[in-house]
Amino acid sequence: MEYYQIAIDGPSGSGKSTLAKGVAQKLGILYLDTGAMYRTCGLKALRLGISTKDKEAVAEMMKDINVDISHVDGEQHVFLDGEDVSKEIRTAEASVAASDVSAIPCVRAAMVDLQRKISEGKNVVLDGRDIGSKVFPNAKYKFFLVAAAEERARRRLLELQQKGICDQTFEEVLRDIEYRDHQDTTRAESPLVKVDDAIEIDTTSIGIEETQDLLLSYIKE
Ligand code: DC
Repeated sequence: MEYYQIAIDGPSGSGKSTLAKGVAQKLGILYLDTGAMYRTCGLKALRLGISTKDKEAVAEMMKDINVDISHVDGEQHVFLDGEDVSKEIRTAEASVAASDVSAIPCVRAAMVDLQRKISEGKNVVLDGRDIGSKVFPNAKYKFFLVAAAEERARRRLLELQQKGICDQTFEEVLRDIEYRDHQDTTRAESPLVKVDDAIEIDTTSIGIEETQDLLLSYIKE
């Protein structure tokens, strides 16, 4: 049996994770949030007090890290060295740390391996930055989501407030988003890019349900 992958790439707050989760549920396939994996590496560096930009120190840290994923009632949980850190990885500090460590090649190599291993023998929808370009360049369906930075910041703030873990202002959230946009698109290793065969969807002024219907209509074709 041939298995397929659906790649959903795009910048922070473009709606990737909500969409990927919804699509996975609708199609009854696995959802993999790859950003959570980079966040887990970033969290470990923060806990160890390592500079998230220090390539050598982060490389050393990667020799002794265990990142694991499991699904409970359709929700992805991520484990750092056996501890469920699904909530801790969502802080503003962990977001910036994730973006920093994700630019380091050995971190990417380890996470890409893990993503491919988890996806083996399954139909899966993955969201991230390099799914269509690097992790699964032959993915059957590729989508690239975009949205205006202000709208993405508004959504991120709302999401954090709903989770009860936000002590940032709108301006701070926007600044973090712009920092990550810049870093994620300009890094040397697997930067965020729209590949030619990806379908671009601008979600600035369309709701999540409409976006999901649009995406599913391409898949049904
Ligand atoms: O999707 P997210 O906001 O949870 O991702 C956190 C960071 O991880 C993001 O700033 C860039 C990085 N990332 C990546 O480099 N490649 C991926 N496939 C997913 C995330």
